[in-house]
Amino acid sequence: MSTYEPVAIDHERTASRIAADVDALAGPEYTLASDAICRYAYTAVYRATLDYFTSAWRDLGFTVYEDPVGNLVARNRAIGERAFGIGSHCDSNRNGGKWDGTLGVVTALEICRLNLELGLDLPLQAISFLEEEASGFGQMVLGSRIVAHRVDELDLRERIRAIDDGRPFWQHAKDAGYEPERWRECAHILDDLIGWIELHIEQGRVLQDSGNRLGVVNAIAGYVHGDITFQGRADHAGATPMDVRCDSAVPAAQTIVELERLARAAGKGTVGTAGEIEVRPGLINAIPGHTRISVDVRGPDDDAVHGAVVALREFAEEASAKRRVTATYAERQAVPATPMDGRIVGALTDAAAATDEPHMSMISGAAHDTMCIAGRVPSAMLFIPCRDGLSHTPLEHAEPVDAALGAEAILNAIRLVTAS
Ligand code: GLV
Ligand code: MN
Ligand code: MN
Repeated sequence: MSTYEPVAIDHERTASRIAADVDALAGPEYTLASDAICRYAYTAVYRATLDYFTSAWRDLGFTVYEDPVGNLVARNRAIGERAFGIGSHCDSNRNGGKWDGTLGVVTALEICRLNLELGLDLPLQAISFLEEEASGFGQMVLGSRIVAHRVDELDLRERIRAIDDGRPFWQHAKDAGYEPERWRECAHILDDLIGWIELHIEQGRVLQDSGNRLGVVNAIAGYVHGDITFQGRADHAGATPMDVRCDSAVPAAQTIVELERLARAAGKGTVGTAGEIEVRPGLINAIPGHTRISVDVRGPDDDAVHGAVVALREFAEEASAKRRVTATYAERQAVPATPMDGRIVGALTDAAAATDEPHMSMISGAAHDTMCIAGRVPSAMLFIPCRDGLSHTPLEHAEPVDAALGAEAILNAIRLVTAS
């Protein structure tokens, strides 16, 4: 029999500390944009954010270090001793709000404070993963994929390049003082973990619409990210008759519409988005010789997701051929749908029930670093509502008091797991 009794925390005090950290990190020294949160790997504002967390964890007596590419780790136990993992990411979407990711790291910090104040002495390791949002290098969950060895050396040296200047990840990491040649050692940051929980805003409106304050995530939707490049011929927009054009933008536009149709037809929660459209030369009086669209297809059913991508590629090729254009698909990455660990989900569900607040079990439509951790460490996630489900926009909003409730549930879930 476990001697576990749930602890109750002072929600108002925890909420005000979480709000203070989230607000501080929305200040001008932590974002590149004046009208949104915009921070990504190896920028000065990202460095300032890591420094903020480093000093906060050191004040609590934690040992803090960064792995060879810049994932931040804070521990209250020596390396080699078992600990429970908590955290998220503190980079943002380029047009982001202040809650996505950062709230999970801030709440992890608050859990470490509560652990001290309440004298619980839980063994804890917090992680803030590098580059979850693809804002610096166009590649989601990059830090945790490096940790999970879901990249290879050529990816890091050559293929993965900065959106801003086209230089490889490797060069940027080196210039920022890291040692990308030791990237395989990043895997060690998971060596001591007995479990992992990431708190995050839901980024949908299921919790809001159902009146629940906590969502225990039992699976995360998988995704395929790729690009289709349409190559035609740039030419004069006025002097070229309609019949002799090789306009790359037209099959690209048809392919975007087909993506919407295919995602709907695939069903099973499949969604599809073409979020990036690049048209060159991009002039009102020139026929676009080159168009690139990004492809983001996601869902809890991997076969449905991959089937939609295959059908989209075929459609793009056929639509292009009719216009003497070529279409070439290149995959950026694919991460399968990821079930959460039954034991950690069970502990979170019991801890959520102990709060006496409404809670539910759900899946995550958004991707998270937890997808890459789950292969090595028993993992789960806890969601709190965000207003109208809005995210990846500066309008994103969550209630710190919900995050405080989440902190209490996570503390108790960790106590349940470590006591049994
Ligand atoms: C992560 O930010 C995602 O787009 O799912
Ligand atoms: Mn996130
Ligand atoms: Mn995000």
